Amino acid sequence: MKVEIINGPNLNLLGKRQPAIYGHETLADVEADCRRLAAELRLELRFHQSNREYEIIDWIHEARETAGALVINPGAFTHTSVAIRDALAVLEAPVIEVHLSNIHRREPFRHTSMLAGAVTGQILGLGPAGYLLALRALAQMVQPAVAVA
Ligand code: DQA
Repeated sequence: MKVEIINGPNLNLLGKRQPAIYGHETLADVEADCRRLAAELRLELRFHQSNREYEIIDWIHEARETAGALVINPGAFTHTSVAIRDALAVLEAPVIEVHLSNIHRREPFRHTSMLAGAVTGQILGLGPAGYLLALRALAQMVQPAVAVA
């Protein structure tokens, strides 16, 4: 099964960006961990990051044709983007929204996710482990025989 992992704005700065909130792992570290687990779960992974909303929307549109599942950390677009929500609403594949930080323990403007009503589930506040848990959950949903083995 093909899985897309999409990361939004400023996540390219992971490791350097507010480490007290987001930790010391870089996005390359997160990608390497995801690739290791994906190989174990026999998932074919595409891993993206963009600071541009339209590019994220284009990847979600492409996923309609190509992906069996999607993981998205939309960064600050979480709180603002009706357009990303609308793109996700068209997907039939399961989608997990991941946040490194617990957005509900932070500033009030982060408490609302525009995407929440258009995703299968959310994982918050567990740092980079959230991406790995999302992959395990999706593998379990979509190809349970492999995920359990
Ligand atoms: C984030 C939380 C967002 O509020 C923030 O704008 C981000 C990262 C997270 O992973 O915790 O860029 O999505």
